[in-house]
Order: sequence, then structure tokens, then C-alpha cells
Amino acid sequence: MAEVKKIAVIAGDGIGPEVVAEAEKVLKKTEELFGYQFELEHGLFGGIAIDEKGTPLPQETLDLCKKADAVLLGAVGGPKWDNNSKELRPETGLLGIRKALGLFSNIRPAVVFDCLKDASTLKPEVLEGTDLIVIRELTGGIYFGEKFRRDTENGQEAVDTCVYNVTEVERIVRQGFEVARTRRKKLASVDKANVLETSRLWRETVNRIAPEYPDVEVEHVLVDNCAMQLLRRPSSFDVIVTENMFGDILSDEAAMLTGSIGMLQSASMGEGSFGLYEPVHGSAPDIAGQGIANPIATILSVALMFRLTFGYAEAADVIERAVKNVLDAGHRTGDIAVDKSKSIGTVAMGELIVNAMAR
Ligand code: IPM
Ligand code: MG
Repeated sequence: MAEVKKIAVIAGDGIGPEVVAEAEKVLKKTEELFGYQFELEHGLFGGIAIDEKGTPLPQETLDLCKKADAVLLGAVGGPKWDNNSKELRPETGLLGIRKALGLFSNIRPAVVFDCLKDASTLKPEVLEGTDLIVIRELTGGIYFGEKFRRDTENGQEAVDTCVYNVTEVERIVRQGFEVARTRRKKLASVDKANVLETSRLWRETVNRIAPEYPDVEVEHVLVDNCAMQLLRRPSSFDVIVTENMFGDILSDEAAMLTGSIGMLQSASMGEGSFGLYEPVHGSAPDIAGQGIANPIATILSVALMFRLTFGYAEAADVIERAVKNVLDAGHRTGDIAVDKSKSIGTVAMGELIVNAMAR
């Protein structure tokens, strides 16, 4: 019998519970196929935790995550909490959980499925062969620097500081090199070194470390140029490594290359194998409760968990192959359907994928 793996499951808000339910079916099916054992424990997080516990990140949820081998997260947020004060916003919980669990590295693959080339707003010939990963620094930079307001003679002033120390830069850059090494061995380091001091430290660090990875080809790309090149030559990128805010923006842009954000999985990692896995998409309050959300991003997040945390590569292959087969057979949820009248719902998509899973 395989060792029992503990997974903290945090469904969250909006479509979160709907897509997570399908991912749980996939976990169950892998238990049957491979004899793996998963112990799932559910926790409250985000808007629902604000409503029920008065805080977006209750201590018991954090404890649950710390005890687990991995976390599966749905999505958090919604208009209901948008006007709350900072402490009572779901996003604050998200930043808090990243920091508290030391998840400094956010990995977001953007792969264009051949059968979905037409779902993107970009021309299929530009997208051909696109298969990239954005590695975003997740616990530093302007997101976590000192923030405050002060009164000046010209009225109120707001300050957000961007701080990076060399240790923070080095660990994420190394991860970029390591991941590139397992792929096409190309690393694009994205910064704004023509303007920002933090970016100059970033670039120096990359150049210092690069000789340790002679097999990896490094390209420095300024962030504005990168935004442009992602649309012009997306298939030329392999691994993109960048700081928190740039990574936030570029990973949304990269997501749109694939046509639907409903397809993209992500991992947030620290040192070691522990990871938090979630779809890149948000809680989509506009379609919540209707049973039409695309569960594929969450299901693929399970595959990523298998690869990066548990080392269950064969099971990850099984999930990814099932998703591909279901898509190849023409099944689509509304977000990726060309003919919306033929689209299927969340549960139907989940079941098709589970039934397609075979060793
Ligand atoms: C993301 C989101 C978050 C971020 C928000 C919701 C705080 O945009 O995970 O990319 O900016 O990191
Ligand atoms: Mg974002």
C-alpha cells in the first residue's frame, strides 16, 4: 500500500467548490487505478471564511495546510467582499497564505493545446508550438514592501516600496535554471534593469549564477519588451523567470495565448516538495452556481501536484492524457466551445475525464 498523502482542500468562493469537486473525483480515480491513498481535509478560506469566521485566513485553515503534504485550492474572492477593508478582503488571505507557507515560487505553465488553437484571439500560426512556463517570485517585491499614506502640502501621498534581497532573488532564479534544465534549456529573465534598482540586482544575480548552468541559454528581456514578444513570438519562450508584479501581469498575458484561462494550472512552492496547487482562473462570480465552469485547470493542477510534490509522474500522465483525449473527442465547456449551444457542464466534463483515465 502506498503511503497516505495528506491533502488540504480549500474550495473557496464562486466556482471554486464546483471545480474542486471534479478534481476530487480525479483523486479518487487515481486511488483506484494506482492504489494511492489520499486523506483529504477541507478548510475555509477567502470570502466564505470572512463570512463564517470573520477572517479570510483562519488559523485552523493555516494549521491544516501546514500539516498537509500539499494544498488544493479552488478560487477566492467576489463582489460581495470587494469593498471590505484590507483585513477583510479575500486577496489579503491569499497573500497571507503564500507568505505563511513560504511559497516563494509560483509556476504557471501556458501550453497551447493543438485542438484549441482556434479558441485564442491570436492567429493559430503564431501560437503553433507554444509551451512555456512563467516562474514568478511570490513573496517579495512591491506586494510585500512597506506601504503607507502620508499628508503632504500637495495632498495625500501613497507609498508602495519594492524591496528584494539577493537571497530572495537567488533562490527563485536558481529555480528558473533548474526548471529550464528539465525542458528546452532556455531561460528568459525578465526585469526593468534600465530603470529599477531591484531589477539591476536581479540581473547581476542572474549573470553571477549563469556560469553554473552552462547548458542553459539565458536571455535578459525588459518587461515591456517581454509583454510584446509574448504576442509576437510566444513559441520561442521556454522558461520565463521574473519578480512578483511583473510575473502577475505576464502570467495573465501568457494565459490568454492559450485561449482560455479555464485550462491553466499552477503551483506555488517553497523549499522542498510541499506545494499549493490551484487553477490560474479566479472565482468567476458571474457564472458561479450554474454548473458551467471549466474544471480542467483544477484537474490539471492535481496532475501538477502529482509531478512536483508526490513524484507520481505516471498518474500525472494518465490525467493529462485523459484531458487531451476528451478535448480531442470534441467535448467543450462553454469557455472553450466554438459552438456554445453544444457545450457541456462542469460535472459532465469532470465525469468524461474520470472515465477516460486509464493506465
Ligand atoms: C494572482 C492574483 C493575485 C495576485 C491577487 C488576487 C492578489 O492576481 O494570483 O495572480 O496578484 O497575486
Ligand atoms: Mg494575477
